[in-house]
Amino acid sequence: MHSIDPEVDTNTGTALEKDGEAAGEERLPALTVVIPARNEQENITALLERLAPALVPLRAEILFVDDSDDDTTAVIECAAVLSPVPVRWIHRSLAERSGGLGSAVLAGASAACSEWVLVMDADLQHPPEAAVRLAATALRHDVDIVIGTRYAGTGSTGEGLAAPGRSLVSSWSNRLVKAAFPRRLATVTDPMSGLFAFRRSTVDLRRMQPRGFKVLLELLLRNPSARVAELAYVFEPRHAGQTKASLRQGATFLRQVVRLRRQRLVGQLRSGTPTGRERLRQAWRMLAFGLVGTTGILVNTGALWGLAHLLGLHNLVAAAFATQASTLWNWALVEVLVYRGRGSGSAAGRGVRFLLMNNALMLLRLPFIALLMRADLGVYSANALTLVALFALRFLLSDRVIYAATGPEGGRDPVQLLVDPAAEATPSAERQQPQTRRRSHYLAYRYDVAGTVTIGSQIRLPELEFFRAGWVDDEDVDIAVRVGDVGPRRPRRRAALTENGSSDKVLRYEEHLGRFGANFSVELGSSIEIVVGPLLARSPHVVYTNIVEALLRYVLVSRGRMLLHSACIELDGTGVMLSAYTDTGKTATVLRLLREHGGRFLSDDMTVVDAEGNAVCFPKPLTISAHTLRAVQADELTRKEWRRLRLQSRLHSKGGRSIALRLARFNLPIMGINALTQMLVPPPKYSVDRLVPCRLGSSTRVEELFIIQRGAPRLADLGFAETVAQMLANTEDAYGFPPYRYLAPALTIAGLDHAELKRREREILEGFLSGVRTRVLASDKFGWADEIPRLVRGEHPAAEAGVTPRQPVVGWPSWRREQPAAAV
Ligand code: GDD
Ligand code: MN
Repeated sequence: MHSIDPEVDTNTGTALEKDGEAAGEERLPALTVVIPARNEQENITALLERLAPALVPLRAEILFVDDSDDDTTAVIECAAVLSPVPVRWIHRSLAERSGGLGSAVLAGASAACSEWVLVMDADLQHPPEAAVRLAATALRHDVDIVIGTRYAGTGSTGEGLAAPGRSLVSSWSNRLVKAAFPRRLATVTDPMSGLFAFRRSTVDLRRMQPRGFKVLLELLLRNPSARVAELAYVFEPRHAGQTKASLRQGATFLRQVVRLRRQRLVGQLRSGTPTGRERLRQAWRMLAFGLVGTTGILVNTGALWGLAHLLGLHNLVAAAFATQASTLWNWALVEVLVYRGRGSGSAAGRGVRFLLMNNALMLLRLPFIALLMRADLGVYSANALTLVALFALRFLLSDRVIYAATGPEGGRDPVQLLVDPAAEATPSAERQQPQTRRRSHYLAYRYDVAGTVTIGSQIRLPELEFFRAGWVDDEDVDIAVRVGDVGPRRPRRRAALTENGSSDKVLRYEEHLGRFGANFSVELGSSIEIVVGPLLARSPHVVYTNIVEALLRYVLVSRGRMLLHSACIELDGTGVMLSAYTDTGKTATVLRLLREHGGRFLSDDMTVVDAEGNAVCFPKPLTISAHTLRAVQADELTRKEWRRLRLQSRLHSKGGRSIALRLARFNLPIMGINALTQMLVPPPKYSVDRLVPCRLGSSTRVEELFIIQRGAPRLADLGFAETVAQMLANTEDAYGFPPYRYLAPALTIAGLDHAELKRREREILEGFLSGVRTRVLASDKFGWADEIPRLVRGEHPAAEAGVTPRQPVVGWPSWRREQPAAAV
């Protein structure tokens, strides 16, 4: 049953005892809505009436953490009986209530056993509808914390903070914490929201020491790499009853900010230097820092002399001003000579921190200067002495706090994710801003992909050229690609993905350069409208790979086909599929099979398959990577093409791509960089018959699948479940590029959401694979093309061919046709 922690069992209750079915042990809720309540008797019933029914499809439960002295507990008990979702409650005794709202939230979170915990107020200031949207967003997106925000998109404090001064206090305390933690809260607009959700497995609750109201703030600060999304909502007025916020809460809040800031600073200062090499580098930096500091002392002394001697300012006042001058001097030199752009954030931001540090240290120095001067030391010597004395501390603060290096894993994902259901779903700039230059709407290029999906585009999409159709009616276009201005003109500080509207959604991805950069939007309606910015439009490969193909994938799924990451050829009438992780040697193997064994070509990268085991050809131009060059014969390309190919293949290899992925961790306009790179050096793409003379097969029934690997020669059958998992992982791997990660979970196509689309895709794959024999074939000398034709013909793998199975095999294990679990 729904009993929780035995220690608090006496104080807890559940209204589910009689509801045996819903209380089944095996169906754990996916989400627990934790509602802290303190004397909210007039609000509970109204809250549950609006909240509980909407939670049913999300498989959620409700958990009240009740610190009331009025009748709230009894009201919960009554209302729970009528609730269509499980309702539990913890009634805390007076002794347990210290820590207030913060500790209540934690108590609730610790008593939950679901993956997600959502926290909301009991007084209906957080509209239940917004909370449900937030829950759905959390369950769908690949993030760890989702925040209800009043400070982004259509979100607002509305009438909710109408009490005099409340809205000012709220917006100023918001500014205060953002200034105190500029990096950790960089992508967060409402760090003090009381409406939020978090994934229990990715945040560490044991480290929390909540005091007062601001639990989310602490959660964000203590989990610096948790991925965050926000949902815009309007804060409502209290339904009934009194707010528990008070001046005392305000003081607690300020103390908490100071405490968190201090803990973070101590943490940063303690962060040791791990390796000897790093310690050596640090010693170098210290030396350089010292040299800069020495010149700074000269500047400082000069300024002090000018101010005190020439202008006749009081010694200590002069020393204070002199510090500003030398600080600017030191900062400029340190920035350029010692750290050379290390540290996160902007140079100006680091300058401000540097100034703050030196002024704080100056407050420490001034009394000592006065003391030393009493002891008959001259003002210049006293000033210089205190500067030298604090050298080590200054260096440590600079090295570990201001210029702390953030590794690729540290820090938050720099892309802002905002879900804004109330925002109007008008994506295309032309409709929104009539004053912009009118662009033609005409779709000059039309494609009919495998007779299943039609695409119309204003830019030529080389990957789809094979499917160029003579005529596709405007009304029949499933996916349209147009060029336009997406988003506002002004540059942004970081990239953002915004999801506007609720039923017909518009997804907008914007990067730093503003509208003229690599922005794009996707409008999901009865047809899909993609608008790409002018920079992107000039890199059709980027448009296709990062946007169109992701959508094509799911439109195909909605029509019973799957875009499977694999190569496919026909050998002697048998459909043979090849799969491998990127850069293994799949393309080279395909080329050799075509050349040396007269295979027919169907696809090299993505194959369109159905649940009946059929594959349809999808001859995208082949991307030639460094090791694929071997399989291309010298006379097939011109000398100039060869030279270009060498450079291209290096740039567009897996290594090149992983650099791009790493760049994305920093706050860089990754789509823009990608588009520019591809404009300057287009990826090496050649149509297959340009590389090897061959024939095309239009469709085939696939019977054999080889997963090729590098390594000690090996051949082994792979079970059905294993194959499905591998092929799914492998297909996902093909979509690893950043915007996809944010885009995909937001998709709804033909009324199917992302989870449902993925479920169907799996079904199609299971159907497809049920008639396919899968073998893993490892080779250490790119020998796959020699083995595969033999294996397809059913010959025993010859020992002299270098394939030595790990265990001696007496007769190959026969393929047992396992039935897929969810086959139709
Ligand atoms: N269990 C428990 N114990 N619940 C409490 C306690 C407590 O000590 N104090 C307050 N609550 C509950 C209230 O019953 C209500 O459900 C919720 O916490 C918020 O309390 P309010 O008194 O309504 O606070 P507020 O509306 O001023 O503050 C809200 O907005 C702030 C931002 O403007 C909260 O959501 C804050 O977390 C948020 O920072
Ligand atoms: Mn409230």
